[in-house]
Amino acid sequence: MALPKINPTHTKAWVKLQEHFKGIKDVHMMQWFSEDKNRASDMTIRWEDFYVDYSKNRMDAKTMELLLELADETQLRTAIDKQFQGDIINETEGREVLHTALRSPKSAKVTVEGQDIMPEIHEVKLKIKDFTTDIVDGKRKGYTNKAFTDVVNIGIGGSDLGPAMVVDALQYYKNHLTTHFVSNVDGDHVNEVLKKLNPETTLFVIVSKTFTTQETLSNANTIKDWFLKSASENDVAKHFVAVSTNIENVKNFGIDENNIFPMWNWVGGRFSLWSAVGLSISLGAGYDNFDKLLAGAHDMDEHFKSADFNTNLPVVLALIGIWYTNFFKSESEAVIGYSQYLNQFATYLQQANMESNGKSVDRNGDKVTYQTGNIVWGEPGTNSQHAFFQLIHQGTKLIPADFIGFGKSLHGNKDHQDKLMSNFIAQTEALLNGKSKNEVVSELKSQNTSEDTIQQLMPFKVFEGNKPTNTLLIDQLTPESLGKLIALYEHKIFVQGVIWNVYSYDQFGVELGKQLATNILKEISTTETIVNHDSSTRNLLEHYKNFS
Ligand code: F6P
Repeated sequence: MALPKINPTHTKAWVKLQEHFKGIKDVHMMQWFSEDKNRASDMTIRWEDFYVDYSKNRMDAKTMELLLELADETQLRTAIDKQFQGDIINETEGREVLHTALRSPKSAKVTVEGQDIMPEIHEVKLKIKDFTTDIVDGKRKGYTNKAFTDVVNIGIGGSDLGPAMVVDALQYYKNHLTTHFVSNVDGDHVNEVLKKLNPETTLFVIVSKTFTTQETLSNANTIKDWFLKSASENDVAKHFVAVSTNIENVKNFGIDENNIFPMWNWVGGRFSLWSAVGLSISLGAGYDNFDKLLAGAHDMDEHFKSADFNTNLPVVLALIGIWYTNFFKSESEAVIGYSQYLNQFATYLQQANMESNGKSVDRNGDKVTYQTGNIVWGEPGTNSQHAFFQLIHQGTKLIPADFIGFGKSLHGNKDHQDKLMSNFIAQTEALLNGKSKNEVVSELKSQNTSEDTIQQLMPFKVFEGNKPTNTLLIDQLTPESLGKLIALYEHKIFVQGVIWNVYSYDQFGVELGKQLATNILKEISTTETIVNHDSSTRNLLEHYKNFS
């Protein structure tokens, strides 16, 4: 039932990788490119509309062979099967992990505790479809009988980041509805959003798996109070819907039972955009596009389940990540989408990745002795080139980066697209090649620079190169390809968690801060002298109380 519990550092492959690392850690990738004319094609995976070139990595064929041995020794295949067949692999929470079922066709057979879950999933999908059609077509109206113009998603973490990222990414496909997101408990967030809204034409979608989250409930209450300034309690049913597993709490909030979109405990929050949590995606981009997003993700699921590991995109990318994290000891990885539509992709991935694999206790309950959970960050290109690329090119840290681009633009302006993609291609070339002393000298000479100045400037103008990148070139940004891309990273995270021997689907690390904030909130309103806490926390609390 449970996932294998193998310490990766105790495998034969790990020991071999350590030895192998010593031999190749200082090799410049350019050496491999000049020795092996087939390197790029051998290290490129073509799958459907994806072209993934991982040849610009500090690894050779032997490295991949050993990493694949590591995957085998840590029983990755068994783990994948267990996830898809609905075993309780989220052992610490006693749950199955079945976000993949949400994007499976109706004919699939997936059971939880002996019950086929596909009919329920498709019943909710139908509810999403009907609701979306009614709102988009203006059949379902607000309390003054006007059609809806705006949708507000009220949620945080997985109940915000996934939908927000996808709605942004699929802007090109959007309909007339304007979608807004309120997540932060900082009142500025809700305030600024409310300024843009008319209560008569706004639909509010409260998304909370648990329906106990402080931020979401505070924002939902503030919004309801605002709504009731112009409407009556009876009108709430027309304007508020909820997505949750906690039907009781939703009803207590005052939401009509017909306006509840259920979800299930076997869907983790950060993997939930495929469920009714994606209602705002369906509303904003239309149900058909939501369905296509799911279909794309399902294609990636099938690829992940069935492709050999050496051509399996999530597996290969996960292994490359492990190579840098555990052998080169890199601490972070950048994800650079060469598309403004991927503006929120890195932010979304931060939760998916860091909440999943930011763990220091393994599946045996022992403290790990190796690195897990990379820091993920990034911004779209080309903006990022003018911001933090300096550090990637010439800084002291090794930062492997994924470059994601789309061959065909949606806007159709060839000039912009060619410029964007020339940057996309040039940057990985620059990171690989660098610029040698000789190249710097001849460049400066060609600009008639004096010998003295050349010598002075040279150290600053040299680029070492040898900076690793993966290039993901996808035909075009469509709901399907976006679905595939998201599922690719989801599975990459799972593979890394399996190999690192951590539980990727719990998140106990977010609890302590929440508990302490609850205590501090009570102390803020007390007039009694505060005696708890360390002196720093106590002083901060006392100082803050001066403001209230
Ligand atoms: O704080 C972490 C977390 O539990 C996430 O895992 C989750 O996505 C988020 O809070 C929101 O939770 P909920 O959907 O239950 O409001």
